[in-house]
Amino acid sequence: MKITVVGAGAVGATCADNIARRELAQEVVLLDIKEGLSEGKALDMFQTATLCGFDTKLTGSTNNYEATAGSDVVVITSGLPRKPGMTREELIGTNANIVKGVTENILKHSPDAIIIIVSNPMDTMTYLALQTSGLPKNRIIGMGGILDSARFKTYLSLALDCPPNDIHGTVIGGHGDTTMIPLTRLATRNGVPVSQFLDADTMQKVAADTMVGGATLTKLIGTSAWYAPGAAVAVLVESIVRDQKHVFPCCVALDGEYGQSDICLGVPVVIGRNGWEQIIDYKLNEDEQAAFNKSADAVRSMNDVLKTL
Ligand code: LAC
Repeated sequence: MKITVVGAGAVGATCADNIARRELAQEVVLLDIKEGLSEGKALDMFQTATLCGFDTKLTGSTNNYEATAGSDVVVITSGLPRKPGMTREELIGTNANIVKGVTENILKHSPDAIIIIVSNPMDTMTYLALQTSGLPKNRIIGMGGILDSARFKTYLSLALDCPPNDIHGTVIGGHGDTTMIPLTRLATRNGVPVSQFLDADTMQKVAADTMVGGATLTKLIGTSAWYAPGAAVAVLVESIVRDQKHVFPCCVALDGEYGQSDICLGVPVVIGRNGWEQIIDYKLNEDEQAAFNKSADAVRSMNDVLKTL
């Protein structure tokens, strides 16, 4: 198995680190346009192999896509990150050109790759990658919902004062501060609805904190977060390369599912060796479906901006 991570910034490098530590591939290639950055970070990470006990080889490449040839999975993290006060949507102009170019270059050398999009605004970048690549839809996956769900579960565990791994919870819809939908009704603590432990105000606060989860970190750190994004990508990659068939909320092309078409949006999907293999219908109630439709409207108007670039 060979995995490429494009973009050696904090998110890309942390993806590569998590992928190597989990030994998800024989080889991980980190690629960046900045001279020496990916070579340096890859070598630094490879020097942890004997310390952390993994055998995955890490190499870096300055914009030479030949080094990525024959990749099974490619993670695209390239583009500008958010600055404090910025929305993910404000990045569209710059990042659209970058993601388009990267997708084209990757496919020249890895025509069979499954492509994971992390660059923001992620839902629109996923839609762009799908259109640019002409690949079957199951091979283009946007990573946002796994991260947002991890944040949701963390905030729920803090509210409940219980271990995060006792919590199940899912965030669907767009990967934006106002477009994501934490499904509070379906969240459980070891199978028991969280509403049995938390009052409505607390649940609303957890949902609100989740929605601005990324922005809160950007404000604190001064740039976009990377530990949870990198780990979230790694669990997605693991389900692909190990064919685990986990159900994760991912941004995928909808063709009537959840009442939407001609859009990429976060819904629960089965993830295996073929990419996303099936969309799971969570049977949303009326309010949740209305929120999903509103999220789709916002993402669709962002997708329309692509036509003007
Ligand atoms: C975040 C970025 C990666 O949510 O979108 O932290």
